Amino acid sequence: MSHFSYQDGVLHAESTPLPQIADAFGTPTYVYSKAALLENFNAYANACKGRDALVCYAMKANSNLAILDLLAREGAGFDIVSGGELLRVIAAGGDPGKVIFSGVGKTVGEMKLALEKGILCFNVESIPELHRLNEVAGAMGKRAPVSLRVNPNVDAKTHPYISTGLKSNKFGIAFDDALEAYRTAARLPHLAVVGIDCHIGSQLLDDAPLLEALDKLIDLIDTLAAVGIVLHHLDIGGGIGINYGAAGDDPPVAVGEYLGRLFARIDAWRADKHGGQPIKVIFEPGRSIVGNAGVLLMSVEFLKPGEEKNFCVVDAAMNDMMRPTLYEAWMAVQPVVPRSGKPVTYDIVGPICESGDWLARGRDLSLVPGDLLAMMTAGAYGMTMASNYNTRARPAEVIVDGDQVHLVRKRENPVDLFELESLLK
Ligand code: LLP
Repeated sequence: MSHFSYQDGVLHAESTPLPQIADAFGTPTYVYSKAALLENFNAYANACKGRDALVCYAMKANSNLAILDLLAREGAGFDIVSGGELLRVIAAGGDPGKVIFSGVGKTVGEMKLALEKGILCFNVESIPELHRLNEVAGAMGKRAPVSLRVNPNVDAKTHPYISTGLKSNKFGIAFDDALEAYRTAARLPHLAVVGIDCHIGSQLLDDAPLLEALDKLIDLIDTLAAVGIVLHHLDIGGGIGINYGAAGDDPPVAVGEYLGRLFARIDAWRADKHGGQPIKVIFEPGRSIVGNAGVLLMSVEFLKPGEEKNFCVVDAAMNDMMRPTLYEAWMAVQPVVPRSGKPVTYDIVGPICESGDWLARGRDLSLVPGDLLAMMTAGAYGMTMASNYNTRARPAEVIVDGDQVHLVRKRENPVDLFELESLLK
């Protein structure tokens, strides 16, 4: 169920009218629904009930402290990709013992921090990284828990920028080299080999490539066990894609269905080869937890009719929401209070000095300046990818809980944006 709906002709977040939020906090503002967030997380958690499984929310999708706090209270772990993200988890009251650390370029400083805080696992992506981690852990008198990110060479059939499991991608250790890499890891004295992970891409609408990757990991786990390397967990990477609502797009496989198929395969394999002994399963979903739990609320500044195109200039821009221009992503844009007038076809653009500064193209809308628009399904990879290009202050963020609105990030003040800068002495 969508937690953003029209009630008496006005778009609401839960039971709060969006105009009320625009009045109180201005625009552009990211508006999140607490109920949607929890519902999405619990789709994973419920499918994992009664199993040894951990949902590590990929916080790169949205790392607002209030969101991390809400998810931590539901029992979430976190998938991090930087020391900064680990500091956020801790600031939000999350448990470092449920954190996995992904990424191809972990620095010595980041490794030290993660070891100090006692994270669950390092998802290691290369042999040089194994050696670095071994040295860092040794110097601290610790053993680092590691999983190797294996690149299963499966085509995720998603946008090339967010496809990660092919041989041509920078991620992970090639499937054919994985056995040797595990042997190396097992020999290093300051590492404890605990798991295997993969992540083949984001916004996958079909689970077939994920199940294909799972089969490859399962084979590898058995090959490793045969040489005495016994793994305790299997991490299948990010979540399933979400419905952005573009015409002609197939809706994605539902979370419960995907997890059901995945667990069925795992159970059959464990029953067949391991006397039914379970293996811990980890997931790293991001988009499917926060994506449809957020909208970007914005105002129409000007309507600019043109010979070839009509432009609707809004107060949000590509710096606030990069997805359209970066991936040519189609994002739905809806009027907050729909008008009855004849619709005009607009390109919805921001005020940034680049032709790439567009949010949506060819949308039929009936508008007047000052109207509010909501970019739907904007909760994932929206605010976390926002920048200060053109010295634009990033939006405020609020979480709606029924008729309550909580400001969870103040709008930036442009003056603060150059606070770290100085003139020549
Ligand atoms: N785990 C790893 C190692 C990842 O690299 C990612 C996403 C995830 C988990 C979470 O995947 P999800 O469940 O969100 O599909 N900015 C792009 C998406 C980049 C995804 C990068 N990795 C976008 O806006 O579409």
